[in-house]
Amino acid sequence: MQPTSALLTLTALAAGTVNAAALTGRVPLMGIFRASTVAQCPLEASDFYQIGLSLGPDDTSCRTFYNNITYGAINVEYWHPQCVLVLFNTIDCSDDGMASGTGCWSPPGGFQAYKGTCPYRTW
Ligand SMILES: *[C@@H]1O[C@H](CO)[C@@H](O)[C@H](O)[C@H]1NC(C)=O
Repeated sequence: MQPTSALLTLTALAAGTVNAAALTGRVPLMGIFRASTVAQCPLEASDFYQIGLSLGPDDTSCRTFYNNITYGAINVEYWHPQCVLVLFNTIDCSDDGMASGTGCWSPPGGFQAYKGTCPYRTW
């Protein structure tokens, strides 16, 4: 992710739908994405996810979705620049995984699970 686009995204979010408190450090936020079962961009009807750092920045757990839904496309609206989002085809994160940048894309094979880690964290 380019630092410039991250700043633009932050600015857009602060002015828009997301509570600005989430972006000023008072609420620890890892990232925000929308996901759709339809593998196309821009997204069809989508689900909204706001991922906190509450599980801890070193958390490597494999996270799944309600009813084990399989998504076909994702639009990452914000992701902490010191953290990484990795999407997995399998529900137990047993495949290699695909690192996601920001923006909309359709991971080949869709994704059933993800991990959010912060290998570059300085805090
Ligand atoms: C979701 O997948 C897990 C692992 O395969 C399984 O144990 C669980 O029963 C599934 N839950 C639903 C609601 O299908």
